[in-house]
Amino acid sequence: MPRRLIYAANWKMNHGPTAARAFTERFLALTSPAADRELWLFPPAVSLTMVADAVCGRPDIRVGAQNVHWEPKGAFTGELAVPMVTETGARAVLAGHSERRHLFGETDEQVGRKAAAALKAQITPLVCVGETLAERDGGRTEQVVVRQVDAVLERVPAEDWARVVMAYEPVWAIGTGKTATPDDAAQVHSLIRFELSRNGVTGRVPILYGGSVNKGNVLSLLAREELDGVLVGGASLDADDWAELVGLGG
Ligand code: PGA
Repeated sequence: MPRRLIYAANWKMNHGPTAARAFTERFLALTSPAADRELWLFPPAVSLTMVADAVCGRPDIRVGAQNVHWEPKGAFTGELAVPMVTETGARAVLAGHSERRHLFGETDEQVGRKAAAALKAQITPLVCVGETLAERDGGRTEQVVVRQVDAVLERVPAEDWARVVMAYEPVWAIGTGKTATPDDAAQVHSLIRFELSRNGVTGRVPILYGGSVNKGNVLSLLAREELDGVLVGGASLDADDWAELVGLGG
């Protein structure tokens, strides 16, 4: 069966509603549905409704939130509950992005709870894992990635993994211009798959690669069949560039 690649754009803290509208209109004009790819957009929370409404005629485009709280409601100032983001039309949520883990102190346990909360509300968690440079240099990549995966396995039963997507994003490659080699990425993707199957997950969980992906390196990364797509920050912010990038690969 041919691969169905996922091209996911993580806008981070960019593109409020006005810029998000301009992006989305342009992106819709430049792309059309293709059987071999899905296009996912993760706008900031204030732009979710606008983007989700704009793409509702395009079943190949899925909109997701960058972060959620695991509780369905309550006294958590500044947080967003999963039911709130699903109400905007979002059908996915990032969990465990390295910026959440490292800049905001999100723990492995919290990432697992967020993934479980998303699944409970019938939306897809895109669970991100990855090692820092010090961890890679210290030979601890495997240990760290397995620990992060296990924390989600503790809270998401094996049968629910059919609705999970993962991303391997080495922290040292995010926003730095440094990319893992296709071999390095493929090796960690295989490690993740091994850990999932060791824990009773059957079926192929899609795993995206993220970290300084751009038009120049996306083809060599996607040439590796261990990769099911890419999660892209900086190179997803310009509609023309992003439309060009999602036209590559496949
Ligand atoms: P980058 O970010 O493409 O700018 O490296 C990727 C990510 O953080 O998801």
